[in-house]
Formats: sequence, structure tokens, C-alpha cells
Amino acid sequence: MSASQSNPPQGLGAWQRLAILAKPRTGTPARATSRSRRLGPVLVDYSKQALDDEVFEALAELAAESKLPRAIGELFAGARINNTEDRPVQHTLLRAPAGACPKEVAAERERFLTVADAVRCGQRRGYTGKPFETVIVIGIGGSQLGPELVVDALRPPHAPDVRFLANIDGDAAVRTLAGLDPATTLVIVVSKSFTTLETRVNAETTRSWFLERTCETGIVEEHFLAVTANQAAAAEFGIPPGNRFAMWDWVGGRFSMWSAAGLPIAIALGRGCFEDLLAGAHGVDDHFRETAPKDNIPVLLALLAIWNTNFHGTATHAVLPYDRRLRLLPSYLQQLEMESNGKSVRRDGDAVRTHTAPVVWGGEETNGQHAFHQLLLQGTRAFSADFVAVARAGHDLKDHHDWLLANCLAQSKAMSEGRAADGPLGSHRSVAGGQPSTTVLLDELTPRSLGALLALYEHKVFCLGSIWQINPFDQWGVELGKELAGEIHDELTSGGSQGAGNDASTAGLLTQVRRAR
Ligand code: F6P
Repeated sequence: MSASQSNPPQGLGAWQRLAILAKPRTGTPARATSRSRRLGPVLVDYSKQALDDEVFEALAELAAESKLPRAIGELFAGARINNTEDRPVQHTLLRAPAGACPKEVAAERERFLTVADAVRCGQRRGYTGKPFETVIVIGIGGSQLGPELVVDALRPPHAPDVRFLANIDGDAAVRTLAGLDPATTLVIVVSKSFTTLETRVNAETTRSWFLERTCETGIVEEHFLAVTANQAAAAEFGIPPGNRFAMWDWVGGRFSMWSAAGLPIAIALGRGCFEDLLAGAHGVDDHFRETAPKDNIPVLLALLAIWNTNFHGTATHAVLPYDRRLRLLPSYLQQLEMESNGKSVRRDGDAVRTHTAPVVWGGEETNGQHAFHQLLLQGTRAFSADFVAVARAGHDLKDHHDWLLANCLAQSKAMSEGRAADGPLGSHRSVAGGQPSTTVLLDELTPRSLGALLALYEHKVFCLGSIWQINPFDQWGVELGKELAGEIHDELTSGGSQGAGNDASTAGLLTQVRRAR
């Protein structure tokens, strides 16, 4: 019997102590100075979390009893901690400076940054000799969410037009390609496996789009790049070696934006910005590896999540960016947190028997206040939230930014403190409060601060997996949907035996779809 089998999280002394401490806590929140941590341009303020010193101590004990420092050591030492796929997890190497990462990582980085430079300055051109004006990035999930978030957040006004095509919905392909000139369009297919349905179909559709418009047989060689761990499949698609970049099996898809999967970032923002993004993340890696649990920000973020999820019954976690540039952060964190830790089986195959990742969701800025914040303020559900704001605006409209930040602080204050019932309609106007939130405040949004922010969340997810004793680096559940979609697609397109092996609902729906078509 392994150590984890004999000692699941619930068996730890600190876990049991937390269970005793987990009673509704009211009263004055602790002073912000004692409830925040800063790392460079990132301030993490957790003063509005419902925890006092005793809880904090017990959470720190939980980190120690969960052997978190040892797990962090194993991560950086390259142990094969992705046990179900028998792989190490080494995305941190991708953001280490040239002298501190393997030669092939540094060489590949230089290779794709050189291509990015050449595309940006117009030295690399399309088949007619015109410079590229549009880059279509075909990829989904981890091959898209991080790069798209960074490009969307930091893209300067006159940057190359970089568009992401992820979904299998043909409408996405039609809209992405609409109005484009093949002569000035570059395509990057990003897929670790190069077998993902959406990416494969979108890549084929895009290749046909080129061929129909140019009759140039060599078009794929000149206009398509690939980033993949499956070099053979990319070669078969027609992409020559010079246009192919590596992904390694020791980097999970949702941790891959620091690799050549970040090529779209480098094209949109430039080499310097991409290097700054890596540097911001690398600074967090150093902090994570070297800092004691009590001051270690990813560890703290994970412990707060444990406190809320496992001891306060919060089933959802809202990500509330108060900066338009971060509007894609909720989708990115959804994959990072839910695909990593949305599991009910421990590393050793036993049931977890406690809640794991909450449902992560969110929405941007004051738009959300006029949509779903009503429930956050007066609904019946417990939740936790991360407010993410930027102190210095990326524009000159000071008045807007003052109002934006005031609203951000007002919302976390309202959710925390609430309002007593008094006056006419007292009970209708009252707000219970006591909803825990953390505010992450960036001094300004730069490649460095964004890199740091994303790495903090990556490591938070790792810590949660360690405490729950699950493997955050696989995603077996996703496979079932893929398999079933294949079978149902066969039935839908072949006209074969309807409903074979299907439940009554699916068989009935298939029949209806066929009739309607
Ligand atoms: O959704 C499952 C998944 O495997 C993700 O983990 C991954 O980010 C995404 O599909 C895309 O995979 P690939 O990069 O292999 O196309």
C-alpha cells in the first residue's frame, strides 16, 4: 500500500483540525497588511477571505503534512510525476534563460523567435512575394487559450492581425477566413498530438481554401507552419521540416504557451515581449521553488481554494477580471483548473472522497455587475472569487479607469461585508456578505506581469493536485466524449443502423437530426 493510500487528505491531522475550525466566521477581517503578499508587479490580497490566524496556521500545517515542499522539489527535479502517462512535467524549463535550460529548448526557442522576427519585419513572405498581413492560428484548448489570451491582452494597435481558429463549427472557419487574401495569410497549426479533431478538420479546410484560390501546389510549404510533438503527422500534412517546431511530451498542452506554441505571441508582440513574458513566469518559478509555504503565493492560493472548496462548501469559483485586456482570463483558467483538477480519482487509482476542483467561470468587469453579480450578492449559493485588476490603465482615459477600479473594490467589499436589513424593503435590500474573494492587483499589465500572473495560477493548480493527491497533468475524462463523438459521427454520416448501442435519448435525437436535414 502506497503512502497516499494509507493517508488520504482527510486522514491528515491538519485536515481534521480545519474541519473543526470550519464554522461560519464573522467579524472584522484581518488587516490587509497581514493578508497580502507581493511578488514584483503582482499583489495578491486575501484580506477578504474568511480565515483567521488559527485557520491560517492549520492551512500551513496542511501544506507541510501534504509534503508540498517535497512535491515542488520533485516537479523541478523532473521526476515522472505525471504518473498515468509516465512523464515528467517540465514546462518550467521552457521559460528558463538560455543557460539554465536544455540546449534543445534554447535552440528551438531561438528558431521560432527568428521566424517571428522574419514574419514581423516582412522578410519572410508569401508565395507571391507579398509580406504576411494575417496569421491564422489553428489549435484548441491548451494550444489556443493561453496564446490567445496573451495576444488579446497585450497586442499593440498596429500589430499583425493574428486570428485564432479553434472550434469545429464551420461558422468559425468561414468567419476567420472571410475577406482574407491567401497571398498574405500565414497559417500556424498548433497541436501537440496533431490528431485533435477540431484542429485536423480546420487545418484541412484552410488548406483547401488556399488550394482553391491559388492553384499553387507548393502553397502549404510556404504558408503553413506547425508546432507539434507529432512531427510525422505534420510532415504527412505537407509541412516541411523547416516550418515545423517541437513540442515535447514533458509539456502538457495547457502548460505549453511558453514553447513554440507561443509563436503567435511572438509574431503579434515581438521577440522582446515574448522574452519578457517568459521572464515574468520564470521569476515566479524561482519564487515557487525557493519560498517557504507561508510566503509562497501559489501555495497560499491553493490553500485558500482548499479552505473554500473543502471546508466552506463553495462549489464554484468566479474569475472576475476588471480590465478588458484580461477578458479571456476566465476561459484560460477554466481549462487550467478544471481540466487539471476536475477529477475524482487519486494518483493511486483510489477515489478522492472529497471535493476537488470547483466549477471555474467568470465574466468581464462591470458588464458582469449588470448581469450575474445579483446572484453573487443575494443568491443562495456559496462561491469564491478572484478579482483581477490593473492599477495603471493601458489608456489615457483616467476617469474610466478610476471608475473601473472603484467598481472592482466596491464589488469585493459588498460581497464580503454585505449590508444589514434596514429601512423600507429592508430584507429585499439586505446583502448577507461573507463571500470570500482574493484580489490580484497588477501594477500594470505588461508581458512580465502577465507571465507572472499565469505562472502563479499554474503552480496553484499543481499545489491543489498535490494536496488532493490527484494527477493534474492528465485528462482521461476528455477521451470518452471524443470516442462517442466518433461513433455518433459515423452513424450520422453513414446512414447506418440508427441508435446501435445508443441510449433512447441519443437514438431519438439522431433520428430528429436526420429528419430535419
Ligand atoms: O481537451 C483535451 C486536450 O487534449 C487538451 O488537453 C489539449 O490542450 C487540447 O485537447 C488540444 O490538444 P492538441 O494540442 O493535441 O491538439
